[in-house]
Amino acid sequence: MTETNLTIAIDGPASSGKSTVAKRIANDLNLIYVDTGAMYRALTYQALKQNVNIKDEKALINLLKNTVITLEKTEDGQSVFVNDEEVTEDIRENNVTNTVSIVAAHPQVRTEMVIRQQKLAENNGVVMDGRDIGTVVLPASDVKVFLVASVKERAERRHKENVSKGIFSDLDQLKKDIAERDYKDTSRDTSPLKQADDAIRIDSTKLSIEEVVEKIKELIDSTLK
Ligand code: DC
Repeated sequence: MTETNLTIAIDGPASSGKSTVAKRIANDLNLIYVDTGAMYRALTYQALKQNVNIKDEKALINLLKNTVITLEKTEDGQSVFVNDEEVTEDIRENNVTNTVSIVAAHPQVRTEMVIRQQKLAENNGVVMDGRDIGTVVLPASDVKVFLVASVKERAERRHKENVSKGIFSDLDQLKKDIAERDYKDTSRDTSPLKQADDAIRIDSTKLSIEEVVEKIKELIDSTLK
């Protein structure tokens, strides 16, 4: 194994900093970054737009079969496309955030998404973030990280981010939403959010992004030795 074909899985709950950290590592090591949450969000966006009932698994599968989801590398991260429409910002809107866990709970939707995610990693080194990367998508990853932080810390980070973007933000509501998403992600029947046995748990509550990135790079270095 060399640095160029490394596979790195970063899992953890909502707003634990996975995507920021994953992007940084992918950039520094010149690996492809795959944000699997964006894929579930893209399908949710498309379902809402086309008035497809997100509780109807068959309808969602039909929609997914006709939906090309593309992740494109940009200077500061990744752009997301549904068919030819750019949806990078749209998939972060509340209507998607508040319903995506229903879409991501359907077993057949997950099966198809996992196939697509595995293809993206087939001949490439990747940093992939999500909920089931170390357990289901890439169980043979070279480095597996399970990134956590307290609900309070995650809500405060999201609150600061919203305020800095000029988006209305209610800290108490954010705490409730994050706790509810944790519950939904960990209690669903198919591929619930769960730390892989061989994943390294990093609690970022009291760590900066740089410190988390450094810790993961140390893990990568020790794997390459
Ligand atoms: O990481 P995120 O907030 O963008 O994820 C959006 C939703 O998709 C969230 O409800 C968890 C779900 N998800 C999943 O079930 N499996 C993944 N590999 C990634 C995300």
